[in-house]
This record gives sequence, structure tokens and C-alpha cells, in this order.
Amino acid sequence: MGKSKGNLVIAIDGPSGAGKSTVARILAERLGYIYVDTGALYRTVALKANRASLDLGDEKALESLCRSIEIDFRPDPKGIRVLCDGEEVTDEIRKPSMSLLASAVSRVPAVRKALLGLQREFGKKGGVVLEGRDIGTVVFPEADLKFFLEADPRIRGERRYEELKAKGEKVDLGETIREVERRDTSDRTRSLAPLKKAGDAVLIDTTHLGVDEVVAKIVQFCRPKLRNCGP
Ligand code: DC
Repeated sequence: MGKSKGNLVIAIDGPSGAGKSTVARILAERLGYIYVDTGALYRTVALKANRASLDLGDEKALESLCRSIEIDFRPDPKGIRVLCDGEEVTDEIRKPSMSLLASAVSRVPAVRKALLGLQREFGKKGGVVLEGRDIGTVVFPEADLKFFLEADPRIRGERRYEELKAKGEKVDLGETIREVERRDTSDRTRSLAPLKKAGDAVLIDTTHLGVDEVVAKIVQFCRPKLRNCGP
């Protein structure tokens, strides 16, 4: 990891499978920035709510759950590890069963409110790449740079399928594509902070682009801002 270049806040939003996580992680690494995977926060709340058999309609219980748990990110050669109350939950929160549950939990206003403060805390000093659904629209509307990654839904489903298969999950391609589409609909149609491109975000269609090409495009947009940050 190089010396941190400037103190920018960089927002990367988009639907599942558009390539946000990989791109955001590599970009943060290149700039010497902190990488914040905000989806991991919703996934961790979903995991905890599931373990406690909480009713997703019980907003009060979900709110107090959010306020009582401590979520931490630890850099690791294999990526970022996620800890909740000291327990490593990185792999568990990535299971397919947690994806739709995280999306359902993210529709609950009290959960969004509780996690908003946490996300702003992570980004307040700058030098950070935050990845999610509403970073450029709600969490950091004043971000220095905003990108919105999109891709054909079938390609996104295939990427997600390959990712899960590589982790040893037993998955079906058709089911994975349907899950990605269901989650998209849920994330795009919720009333609070829906998934949508900020007016001033740069749209990048990753359907026919490799990770390196997407990172290169983003770096091009970052250069002028980084130059203004001094040596
Ligand atoms: O990025 P992900 O697939 O890990 O996110 C899981 C869910 O969390 C996603 O379907 C919607 C929710 N989410 C959100 O509402 N806002 C964010 N900034 C990030 C994720």
C-alpha cells in the first residue's frame, strides 16, 4: 500500500454484481485509502437479527440491536475481515441466505438511521473509498468523487454465481440471477435512500469491462482532484 494520496472521500455505488467491491478495494489499496464496504454493515445486522430470531417488522428491536452491536473492519491480505462484537463474521455474512435478508433489513428506517452515523464516522477524516447503494446520494452527498457502476443483470448474476462457487457454495446459476434481480428490485424501490445514481456521479457500465479497466477509468477521474491535494 502506497503513502495516502490526499484526503478525498470517494463514493462507489451500484447494484449487486456490478463490480463495486473488487474495484473499491483495489482503488483504496492504490491510493493508500481506507476501504469501507457498507453492505457488510447491513449484512451483519441481518445475521444478528436472524440469530436472535427478530421479527423484521419489529423496528424497535432492530433499532436496539443496531445500537448494541460493534462492527469493525480489519485489513487482511485476503481482503477485509469483518468483526462483530469481536467475532469474525466475514464468511457468514456473505452467504446467499444473508443477501436477501440484508436487503430486507436495509428497508427498515431505524436500521438505516443507526447505520448512517456509523458510515459517516468511518469517512469523516477522508482518505476513504466507501462502497454501497446510497453513498453518493445520502451518506456523503458532498463526496469529492462519485461513481455509479452498472452492468447487464444477467452478467451481474453470472459474476455473483462465480464468486459464490469459488467460495465453495452450492449454487444454481438461474436461482442466483433471480436472487440478484429480486434484490435489485427491493433496493431500487424502497422509499428511504433507494439505490439510484446521484446526479453528479460518473456512470460506468462494467458489462464488457474487466476489473483493471474499470479501476483505470476511475483513476483517470481521480487524477485532477488528487493533483489539487498537493504532493
Ligand atoms: O453490497 P451488498 O450486496 O453486500 O449489500 C447487501 C444489502 O445491503 C443490499 O442488498 C442493500 C443493503 N445496502 C444498502 O441498503 N445501502 C448500502 N449503502 C449498502 C448496502
